[in-house]
Amino acid sequence: AGCNTGDATEKYTVATDNNFVPFEFLNEETGEMEGFDIDLIKAIADEAGFEVEIESMKFDGVVSGMQSGRYDIGIAGMTITEERKETIDFSDPYYDAGLMIAVNKDNEEIKSEDDLAGKKVGTRSGTTSEEYIKANHPDADLVTFPGIVEAYMDLESGRLDAVMYDVPNVQYYVANDSAKLKTVGDILQGEQYGIAFPKDSELVEDVNQALETIIENGTYDDIYEKWFGE
Ligand code: ARG
Repeated sequence: AGCNTGDATEKYTVATDNNFVPFEFLNEETGEMEGFDIDLIKAIADEAGFEVEIESMKFDGVVSGMQSGRYDIGIAGMTITEERKETIDFSDPYYDAGLMIAVNKDNEEIKSEDDLAGKKVGTRSGTTSEEYIKANHPDADLVTFPGIVEAYMDLESGRLDAVMYDVPNVQYYVANDSAKLKTVGDILQGEQYGIAFPKDSELVEDVNQALETIIENGTYDDIYEKWFGE
C-alpha cells in the first residue's frame, strides 16, 4: 500500500444498487453481488487493467455518490438523461432499455398507458419512471417506493393497480414471479443505460475503450447471454 511503482494496479470503488434484477442483486448464498452490471464492470476492469471494489446501496445513493465524487464508478442500470448529464458523466451506452407497465394477470381494465387515469400506479422514487408518470400521467395516482420489490408486492396484494418500471426488470420479475403479474402495452420511452462517473473523471475514456473491446471480442455477448439468453 502507498507504494506507487509503475506496475501497481489501481483499485476503484464501484457503487451499485442493492436490488435490480437481473443487473445487480445479492446472492444470499455467497454474500456477493451478482448480475449483468457486475459481470460487465468486472470484464471492463480486466480489459482496462484495474481492480474494482463493489459497494451496494440504494439507487439514489449511486446517483448522489457520483455527484459528490465519493465513488469512482457507478453502475446500476442508470439511464443516460440530459438532466443527469449536467452533474454526472456517462460512458457510451451499454444497454437499450425502456419503461413498461405490469398489472395483475386478471386485470382486464388496464391494457396500455392510456388506461392509467385515476389508477394507483407505483414505481421507485428517483427514477425515470417516476418522472415519466409525472410528466405524462398527471391524472394517475402516483405512489413511489424506496425499492421496487415493495411496489410489486403491493401490486400483487391489490394495493396498486399497476407498476411502471424498466422493461428488463419488469419482464424478469414477471417471468420469475409465481406468475401473478403480466406486462401490458408497448415499451414506453426508449432509454439507454450508461456507466456513471463523477464529472470530468479521467476514467471515462478508458472505460469506453474497454467497453468497445469487449463488445468486439464477444465478452459482452457472453455476459448478455448469461443473464438474458433463453
Ligand atoms: N433506469 C432507471 C433510471 O435510471 C431506473 C434505474 C433503477 N436502477 C436500479 N439499480 N434500481 O432512473
